Amino acid sequence: MSKTLIVANWKMHLNTHQASILLHRLDKHIKIHRDIEVVLAPSLLTLQPLSLEIDKRKFSLAAQNAYFKDEGAFTGEVSFSMLRDLADYAIIGHSERRIYFDEDLETVRDKVSAAVRNGITPILCVGETKHEKALGESKQVLHDQLVTALSNITSEDIEDIVLVYEPQWTITTFDGTPAKPDEAQKAIKFIRSQVRDLYGDKAAKAVRVLYGGSVDDQLAKGYLAVSGCDGLLVGSASLNYQTFANIVESAAEVQHKVEVKV
Ligand code: PGA
Repeated sequence: MSKTLIVANWKMHLNTHQASILLHRLDKHIKIHRDIEVVLAPSLLTLQPLSLEIDKRKFSLAAQNAYFKDEGAFTGEVSFSMLRDLADYAIIGHSERRIYFDEDLETVRDKVSAAVRNGITPILCVGETKHEKALGESKQVLHDQLVTALSNITSEDIEDIVLVYEPQWTITTFDGTPAKPDEAQKAIKFIRSQVRDLYGDKAAKAVRVLYGGSVDDQLAKGYLAVSGCDGLLVGSASLNYQTFANIVESAAEVQHKVEVKV
């Protein structure tokens, strides 16, 4: 059984000092769980100091973004190759990047390739907008996003990639409302079916698929209990150490129940 992944997306919050304070609080309140991986995604600026401070048995780090070229005259950008030793993961294709920074399907594809090329595991976010949902286009959107984003990914690499069903209409930034667990379940199942079509059954089973969007400590268990859901991407609730620690604890409880059943 793969580890449950709980990812904290701190977005453009917390300077280096504040991030360090939050890390220390999390460290106090989160226990090491064998079957759970807790990933923190601070700002790019904070990745480096945090990489020296974290207890690596407890936390991994993710970048929230990077540029797809490895180096060159790209003023203001940071490449995946520069993040090689700092981040294990990188969030790619987040709705805020697609919507606010006009990242299109091909940009997301190139970032996924660049991450893999540099030994960083993509946490690839996919999902439809509210408008696309209203038009009944959800499956088509997921299909297009996945097929393009994964087009340079080999069957060897796919099993390491993390996929997240995080539609724009569920994210607090966009005044989202959380998906119902059965909506998340259907989408996760569809995402796996797309991986199956592209890479076969083994890959579809191995790939980790998370849910994201308005997750808090009240809702976490409902999603984690969904069959096929391997974890959560948490935004605003991850800025509160108590809430985030509760989410991790919920994941441990759900894992324990599954183990007892097996
Ligand atoms: P939210 O954000 O939990 O605040 O909705 C999730 C995300 O954007 O990753």
